[in-house]
Amino acid sequence: MRVARVARIATRTNRDARASSSSSSSSSSSSTPRAAQRRPSDRGSAHRAPWSGLERWRALGLDHRRRWSDEGEGKSGGVNNAVECDGVDAVGEGASRVDTGKDASSSSPLASWCLARRARDIVNTSDPREKARKTHEAYVALVRGEIPIASEAFAASPEMPKKPARPSAPKLVPPKEVPSPKNSPLGPIAHVMHNVAHIELNAIDLAWDTVGRFASLRGALPDQFYVDFAHVADDESRHLLWCLQRLEELGVSYGDMVAHDVLWEGAEATSDDPLARLAVVPCMQEARGLDAGPRLVERLIGHGDVRSAAIIRRISDEEVGHVAVGATWFRTVCDALSDAGADDASKEAVASATFRSYITKLAPDALRGPFNVDDRARAGIDPTWYADADTAAAVSVEKKLYAADIETVRRLRERLGHVVALEQSAP
Ligand SMILES: [Fe+2]
Ligand SMILES: [Fe+2]
Repeated sequence: MRVARVARIATRTNRDARASSSSSSSSSSSSTPRAAQRRPSDRGSAHRAPWSGLERWRALGLDHRRRWSDEGEGKSGGVNNAVECDGVDAVGEGASRVDTGKDASSSSPLASWCLARRARDIVNTSDPREKARKTHEAYVALVRGEIPIASEAFAASPEMPKKPARPSAPKLVPPKEVPSPKNSPLGPIAHVMHNVAHIELNAIDLAWDTVGRFASLRGALPDQFYVDFAHVADDESRHLLWCLQRLEELGVSYGDMVAHDVLWEGAEATSDDPLARLAVVPCMQEARGLDAGPRLVERLIGHGDVRSAAIIRRISDEEVGHVAVGATWFRTVCDALSDAGADDASKEAVASATFRSYITKLAPDALRGPFNVDDRARAGIDPTWYADADTAAAVSVEKKLYAADIETVRRLRERLGHVVALEQSAP
């Protein structure tokens, strides 16, 4: 059903693009869409600066902070130090050890599983703490160069589950049935922490689903794509454990309140289109998290819980990197499918128009504020992507990506290879 819906959206998007190309051709000899024809001076602050911390984030060593310190952030034993980590003894290893072509040599039963196969196993794991443990274990194995990203057999047929495994509680209900903070059975503080725990649990599965489901595009998408989303999953696992820990401290368990399934619906609606996935999950859902973060911190401080507030503040800060990773890969794929020779302003116009086109169709409510403009900008998402939404803007990407569309994959592989070669030759 949802696949059919996405297919219809693809058809409409392509029709819109063709219509725009033909209408714009009457006023211009170029087939570049209307939005892309604007000069940089017409487009205000549009820019293509990636998140300044991206390379630093990629180079971070393994982060074993699995528990929030008793004394709070920055104190001895706090989040700036490695504390508890089940079954992992190394601290401060560099991410540079990732060797994506190397086979596992460990005697562990999981040793023969590639990263993408582990992604499927993790999505199929229902217990939240076990999901978090397996996530860190998989990322550690990747960083240590012990597992390849995807075996040929897995990439040929990823077969990710339609839905992630979930514990028996919380009960999943329509969003309208989730209580407001005022009516929450948990009280206002635990209510916030329960909601964030649920978001982090979904975020783990969303990142792993992206790794596993799009393993079929390995080669067309460079290895760094999969490494980045495994890294995101690892961050989310740490966030989840901090929230579960805080809930316990508040005398509450995850599952004591109902929750909704809206986040996973975003994954289902984008299961056959990596560009749509990047638009909806990191660039929209996670950007909404940036919007909400400061409000939640203020609310918790207002209730006198500085410890919970510090956890949420830290999580929000780390989420900037996840949005930045999404925006970076969204631009990379858009650029690869843009007209050869387009300048940066034109490419950016295509990226922002393509993003708005997807979000207008898949999640139109997300184009309404309030927006955390500063943190979105830090992540490399310019207001032209979401504010003053020109929903009629055309999309120049004439063909969407489908794993089954061999010709599109071939073109993507060629163009991405060109982009990567250019980046590698840059001084
Ligand atoms: Fe998170
Ligand atoms: Fe995130």
